[in-house]
Amino acid sequence: MPRLAIFASGNGSNAQRIAEHFSGHPGISVDLILSNNPAAYVLRRAEQLGIRSEVFSRDTFYHTGSIPALLQEGKIDFLVLAGFLWLIPADILAAYPGRILNIHPALLPKYGGKGMYGMRVHEAVIAAGDRESGISIHVVDDRYDEGKVIFQARCTVTDQDNPESLAEKVHQLEYRYFPEVIEKFITGRP
Ligand code: GRF
Repeated sequence: MPRLAIFASGNGSNAQRIAEHFSGHPGISVDLILSNNPAAYVLRRAEQLGIRSEVFSRDTFYHTGSIPALLQEGKIDFLVLAGFLWLIPADILAAYPGRILNIHPALLPKYGGKGMYGMRVHEAVIAAGDRESGISIHVVDDRYDEGKVIFQARCTVTDQDNPESLAEKVHQLEYRYFPEVIEKFITGRP
């Protein structure tokens, strides 16, 4: 049975939706939630969900090789980044080639790349006067937000929208689609 680990740096509302989607699922389980941020609310969510969590430092993540070891010890098959802000290092990419998904809160390739995260994305979309935004789910490679996009969903941006209201629209798309896109990505593989 495929096992998932979720990486999240902050609130973790997507992580929670994903964990709930797979709770009791006959074929896929969420076994581990990892965070670079010891104060992240996602860790409280993990506790409430009864899912093991681990916190790591920048040095551990980039220089020790202990994250791939931890993932392999937990027999983790796929990684999901849900609001995770650090670039994935080569050792993790090598251990999970084509098996890491990220969600980005805009229509890539627009509004992606280093420093484009959270409210900054929605502020940029509003400032540009775009009439639509949305979500992109993509395979992770060694660059920020550049791996192959496997799914997008759109929402309108109106004159009444501000970054906060747009963030809310985008979050609703994330909750609606991310768990099922992960499921299809895993079950649709040879
Ligand atoms: C989401 O909008 C996601 O697209 C972005 O960070 C946000 C995380 O929200 N990468 P949450 O932590 O899941 O509530």
